[in-house]
Amino acid sequence: MKKKSKPPVRAKKAAAGNGKKTPALRDLAARCGILIGTCVAPKLDEPDYAEVLAREYDFVTSENHMKWSCLSNAPGVYDFAEADRMMDFARRHRQAVHGHTLLWHNCLPPYLRGYAGSREELIDMVRVHINTVAGRYRGRILVWDVVNEVFADDKADFRPSVFSTVIGREFVPMAYRFAREADPGAKLLYNDYCLEGQIPVKSDFCYQTVREWLAEGVPLDGIGFQAHLDNKSDIGLAAEQMARYADLGLDIYVTELDFRVPLPAGKAMLALQGRLYRDLLRVCLDFPTFRGFQTWGFTDGCSWVPGFFKGMGDSLPFDVKYRPKPGYHGLRTALEECAGRRAKTAPPLV
Ligand code: XIL
Repeated sequence: MKKKSKPPVRAKKAAAGNGKKTPALRDLAARCGILIGTCVAPKLDEPDYAEVLAREYDFVTSENHMKWSCLSNAPGVYDFAEADRMMDFARRHRQAVHGHTLLWHNCLPPYLRGYAGSREELIDMVRVHINTVAGRYRGRILVWDVVNEVFADDKADFRPSVFSTVIGREFVPMAYRFAREADPGAKLLYNDYCLEGQIPVKSDFCYQTVREWLAEGVPLDGIGFQAHLDNKSDIGLAAEQMARYADLGLDIYVTELDFRVPLPAGKAMLALQGRLYRDLLRVCLDFPTFRGFQTWGFTDGCSWVPGFFKGMGDSLPFDVKYRPKPGYHGLRTALEECAGRRAKTAPPLV
């Protein structure tokens, strides 16, 4: 018997909380022709979490549950329960899904840690994995991060990983071809951090390699700028980096944005963070191939930042009680400006 799916979460009130019906971020983003989103943690049963997620966003990514280690413990054995829950939530709330990620050097299943098999066997495992995961969600994922973070941080090279070491750097073109075959309708992204210009040797090497992939006919549709940024970030530099990929005709996505700040964060710091959110979205909206803007979580109550960057946090648009912060208002401002401009330039309907 088909399981009855849950009804959608009812939106309580607009985030402005002033009693008036204020459009949510997703309504404004739609008027700008982009998607706005966040990653999703396994907290869909928490009413406040689910309510804000459904109300404000139309583009979701599983924070961890589509990673290889979360899906599979033994070769050929997969557990899709948590990933399916998010897919179901997204369908009920008319949200597009960004799949993350088919191949990553991190979050590997036990059978790939300390891998001692042959190159041919590993290629086969990669093919089967991509087929299994992208094939399961075929037609339901708008964009896939096919490979994540393959470049070294300190030199013009690939980072060592089981894939680059055992297969060689050809594992990347292979993975894109497998993904295209498994889900021909999905857009395929390359996703990485510090492509916003913080480490020139890395961003330049990525750009050169992406051009080589395109020249070889690798089916790559866009670049995901993770954008794990901080209060000292240079938005102009990030815009320059995005521009050169847009010039190649590639789609541009911001995939994992957070602006971490030193803790405890005072009012002035959060106001600065609000301007950074606004300014980054503003520059993105200027690229004709800019498609989607996602933060890595939406509430400070659920963020990877404090666990990863010592002494930093408060990086997201909502606080721990789901109250909108200046970052949220910064995003609204950029979207409102853009929606206003597009309304003026749109051709009349009749
Ligand atoms: C992080 C998650 O947020 C954590 O919960 C997990 O423990 C490790 O991974 N770049 C990525 C994301 O591509 O998958 C990472 O997510 C953050 C950095």
